[in-house]
Amino acid sequence: MDILKLILSECKREEYPYIYTLKDKNLKKIILIIGASGQIGTELTMRLRKKYGNQNVIATDIREDDGTLSKDGPFEVLDAIDYQGIKDIVIKYEVTDVYLLAAMLSATAEKFPMRAWNLNMNSLFNVLNLAKDQKIKKVFWPSSIAVFGPSSPKENTPQTTIMEPSTVYGISKQAGERWCEYYHNIYGVDVRSIRYPGLISYKTPPGGGTTDYAVDIYHQAIKGNNYVCFLDKLTTLPMMYIDDAIRATITIMDAPKESIKIRSSYNLSGLSFNPIEIFESIKQQIPIFEISYKPDFRQKIANSWPKSIDDTNAKDDWGWKNNTSLEEMTAIMLKNLQD
Ligand code: SER
Repeated sequence: MDILKLILSECKREEYPYIYTLKDKNLKKIILIIGASGQIGTELTMRLRKKYGNQNVIATDIREDDGTLSKDGPFEVLDAIDYQGIKDIVIKYEVTDVYLLAAMLSATAEKFPMRAWNLNMNSLFNVLNLAKDQKIKKVFWPSSIAVFGPSSPKENTPQTTIMEPSTVYGISKQAGERWCEYYHNIYGVDVRSIRYPGLISYKTPPGGGTTDYAVDIYHQAIKGNNYVCFLDKLTTLPMMYIDDAIRATITIMDAPKESIKIRSSYNLSGLSFNPIEIFESIKQQIPIFEISYKPDFRQKIANSWPKSIDDTNAKDDWGWKNNTSLEEMTAIMLKNLQD
């Protein structure tokens, strides 16, 4: 890269167009993040801006930004189902890579099934079609543990197994995975995906998922409230601290093409815990904290999902490894929510 910079400083674009074409093609990475104001998008935008430069990461969301993302880089209001809108931004900024994070999560999707299907599927088609038409080079699209259903094995759920998702969200993610693999096989689209577990973060709250309790519990503990959990105490689910999820996302996108052998979506394992276990990890630091249980409609969703995930393929293919334990995560969450 440095040698190339040196050569470029020595020669003019008109005289050496080939070298400039090489540079444009191979070195320039302009990233578009769709759904950048959400739980994953906010932290991913910040991390990618650090890595690739503020101006090279365009954050977009359906909502106006409150200053968080627009203060140090480009921000545009964009609806993920507006194909022309996405295309205009892709052309305007000469976007190469798209991270599509806009989606309706499991609990909200049960309330608005058609809106969820429309958003989750059409946003994906918009981006896959731009890649198919070679307007962009690479796509990241998140799938979820929700692709598994009541008939899937619960423990150490394999990469490939029975998948009969019983939620609107899970059905949309399962269909999306099939389309990603299809666009890769038939049109050569470089799409990469991971099946996120429930994600825990302190900067931006999650919006409308079944695993959201594992974020809310920390907020209530810090406020000095007792926590009423909407899942039963023994409901074990796959979870992950946000830093690990962001690192996984960047790692899979940076991996050489040949190492990405699965083009539907990779299983990804971090932590597995139930409400009692997270409660106990908090209580060690806040002894007066109490919890009670009042399961609602989200219990049925949680019951249909795995307890733990086998992520051998992600480990073998692109070197995935989880770092943060439940105890470490609790310490980080409590410290940062206190500040
Ligand atoms: N966190 C998501 C949800 O609960 C699962 O992917 O909907």
